[in-house]
Amino acid sequence: MSDSTGDRDVWSRVDRYLETALLPEDPALAQALARNADEGLPPIDVSPAQGRFLHLLARIAGARRILEIGTLGGYSTIQLARALPTDGVVVTCEYSPDHAAVARANLEQAGLAERVEIRVGPALETLPTLTGPFDLVFVDADKQNNAAYLDHAIRLGRPGTVIVVDNVVRGGRLLTGGDPQVEGSRRMFAALQREERVEATALQTVGAKGYDGFLLARVR
Ligand code: SAH
Ligand code: DHB
Ligand code: MG
Repeated sequence: MSDSTGDRDVWSRVDRYLETALLPEDPALAQALARNADEGLPPIDVSPAQGRFLHLLARIAGARRILEIGTLGGYSTIQLARALPTDGVVVTCEYSPDHAAVARANLEQAGLAERVEIRVGPALETLPTLTGPFDLVFVDADKQNNAAYLDHAIRLGRPGTVIVVDNVVRGGRLLTGGDPQVEGSRRMFAALQREERVEATALQTVGAKGYDGFLLARVR
């Protein structure tokens, strides 16, 4: 069930092939990853292909206001902010002031600082202070709180709002549970079983970041 080393190797090589075929050279994203590494941030950003996927989803949705929960160094934030019109905004929630400082530098370097508001603190304290509606919500923080984050995302949405949640499969540990992070995603799926305010699906993914998956939902 979990990804063996050999599987991961071919998934990573295919990801590099797809990046070469599909993704333009991107100095701002490359510099963001380099700064993240220099600053000691964990390499848990979405992959380049996944980031491009989020960017395209935001473009397809015509998003003007995007909410992100979990900024890290702003790699996904850059991908989302670039999908916006010049008067659009990403509000991104980050617990760690250190991560937020790195993200701020990366967003400035990418020329996107004016389109992004970083809200530092526990997202569960920030979210009740926000006013919607947001057109797209990307949830990628502490998975223990995924059920609550989904609830806030729906509350802050409007009919048609796109919600994406990262890391919902975790190498198949979704099925077996046993750590607070996957237990959080299991609580989110249990809530979705009764949730009438969204229609949802999930996609399992493999690639440079291993075996995982995205939840995709649309507010009714
Ligand atoms: N979306 C980023 C990766 C986010 S990693 C990208 O793809 O580039 C998860 C981030 O969530 C980390 O920076 C972590 O500090 C942050 N986080 C963890 N708990 C949080 C909380 N309670 N509120 C807000 N952010 C939190
Ligand atoms: C990990 C990956 C993620 O995408 C994330 O948001 C948090 C943690 C990880 O691989 O540990
Ligand atoms: Mg993630």
